[in-house]
Amino acid sequence: MSGPSSGAAVVAVLPAAGSGVRLGAGVPKAFVELAGVPMLVRAVDGLLASGVVDHVVVVVPVDEVDGAAALLPARPVTVVAGGADRTASVAAGLAAIGPDVEIVLVHDAARPLTPAGVVSRVVAAVRAGAPAVVPVLPVADTIKQVDPAGVVVSTVDRSALRAVQTPQGFRAPDLRRAYAGEPDPRTDDAGLVEALGDPVATVPGDPLAFKVTTAWDLRIAGLLLAGAAAGCADRDGVRAG
Ligand code: CTP
Ligand code: MG
Repeated sequence: MSGPSSGAAVVAVLPAAGSGVRLGAGVPKAFVELAGVPMLVRAVDGLLASGVVDHVVVVVPVDEVDGAAALLPARPVTVVAGGADRTASVAAGLAAIGPDVEIVLVHDAARPLTPAGVVSRVVAAVRAGAPAVVPVLPVADTIKQVDPAGVVVSTVDRSALRAVQTPQGFRAPDLRRAYAGEPDPRTDDAGLVEALGDPVATVPGDPLAFKVTTAWDLRIAGLLLAGAAAGCADRDGVRAG
């Protein structure tokens, strides 16, 4: 394992320390295999395959640090222990990053099929001057606001709404400032930077960057990979592995 700071301009923090309650696999979600490859390995390799990420800080449950490192030989990674929620895990990852890093990405191990193009678009936008960048998709479904009883209050104009994916990208000092003090665990990383008054830019996301949350999502991811292995998909990002 090489260190995350020396000369590395772009470092990705990969929170993988969740327990995966909604998936219910009986093991931490990031260690669940997709076509024989753990999700966290797919996520690390996806980031590195972009060619724009120099180092990945992988954040795992405290008793999985050695196991995760063993899954990731010969890759520029550092593995550290996470915290009680995603925000605490990202903070632990940030603490492992050296002062000379220029750009930090924060991704999710739970988005194992994220195409390289999403990663490179985010980094390009930060390099072009945005303090914070999120990949987004338009919202396809009609969105209703409801009252506590579930009765519709209004129909939201979705033309200005976007669903946010990861990796989110940041100028390192801005993200460090956002995480100084006590960051609100209900807010995403870009939301913390937004709260400082910094503008948050958007770039196009990709449906393949979806988050594996439930057993349904895992099934979809498996089917996409099976299709790629059978030559049915030629999209980058879906590697049969
Ligand atoms: N995560 C983390 N540390 C935590 C909680 C979550 O690093 N204490 C990570 C997860 O490993 C995942 C990402 O944050 O890669 C997004 O979280 P989520 O999809 O909610 O995963 P889990 O928290 O594992 O799932 P659940 O909420 O169903 O338990
Ligand atoms: Mg969670």
